[in-house]
Amino acid sequence: MELNKLIREILRKYSAYEPVEKPGDDGWVRLNSNENPFPPLQEILIDIKNAVDENIRLYPDPTSFELRKEILNVLLRDKDTLTNRNSVFIGNGSDEILDVIFKVFIDPGDEVVIFYPSYGLYKVLSTLYNAKINEIQLNDDFSLPESAYLAKGKLMIINSPNDPNGKSFGNATLLKLCGSFPGIVVVDEAYADFSNQTCLPLLKKVKNLIVYRSFSKSFSLASLRMGFALADSEIIKEMNRVKLPYNTNYIGQVAALSCIRHNKRIIEQNKKILEERKRLTEELNKYNGVSVLPSDANFIFIKFEDKSKTLKFVWDLKEMKILTRHFSKPRLYNYIRVTIGTEEDNNKFLSIFKTIANKYL
Ligand SMILES: Cc1ncc(COP(=O)(O)O)c(C=O)c1O
Repeated sequence: MELNKLIREILRKYSAYEPVEKPGDDGWVRLNSNENPFPPLQEILIDIKNAVDENIRLYPDPTSFELRKEILNVLLRDKDTLTNRNSVFIGNGSDEILDVIFKVFIDPGDEVVIFYPSYGLYKVLSTLYNAKINEIQLNDDFSLPESAYLAKGKLMIINSPNDPNGKSFGNATLLKLCGSFPGIVVVDEAYADFSNQTCLPLLKKVKNLIVYRSFSKSFSLASLRMGFALADSEIIKEMNRVKLPYNTNYIGQVAALSCIRHNKRIIEQNKKILEERKRLTEELNKYNGVSVLPSDANFIFIKFEDKSKTLKFVWDLKEMKILTRHFSKPRLYNYIRVTIGTEEDNNKFLSIFKTIANKYL
């Protein structure tokens, strides 16, 4: 058997998404994958444990009816957005939602507009679905270039706040994009709970918009893979037609419902992340040759004036068991992305950063 001749042709030049490294042993401070440093609240863990009973022999609700209801009635109640249950889609993490969107809209050769730099999965999925990729370079300050408003295609995918720089694009910009783009504008709001902006209200004004969010980041449920999208009910109907029948599992649904029930306390807890983001930014900005970009997310993007020093920091931090994220990609060589950890994690990071800075800065 010649496997290479059997697999899809596109896979011969396809590079898969590379998840961040996860060393198995303990003692690491993992500031490299934008996870929430706080475990789920005790009450949520109890709900999850209680869900592990004999009912797990049954298939989960394929429509996630309860969860869709609670997302609208409780989680998004004050967000001035769509209120129809048929406008909500539940996915196995927000990554799956994007895959489902591709399944609905992209035939081989269709044009997909993405931006650089941004979350790597957009390009990976565009390649996998054999789309024609129009990758638009963001400006040096990571704002949107005017050329974005001239782009044509079936899908435009934009991340707000944008990974890796952490800044939101703002609703005036996103609304203008929805007006100029002939296809569907998809806004990935995986980090929007750490920001004071959301484009959810735009859904009431335009029909060619899909907004999706994640339970992985602000709700500390990354391992249970839950996310949701909001869009016009006609779009959601198509997404439901192509998704796998039981795309989310029962425990994940229970956990997400419990997070919504305890939503207020989670928001309170996450305020600590915002305070720590401010503290880290101020502390790091004190160093000569280092500047931190303003962030609306649970991570910061640190710029080193001298590119040759960046990797030294990454390696020395790793030597001391602190993982951060460096992207060996054009325009990103002199940056490190650091997830906001607990106060204790951040103190450790700052103290080791200081030692390294004494050596190199
Ligand atoms: C911009 C962005 N969107 C989506 C995700 C994935 O979210 P989920 O865990 O909901 O699939 C990530 C994960 O790091 C991300 O950075």
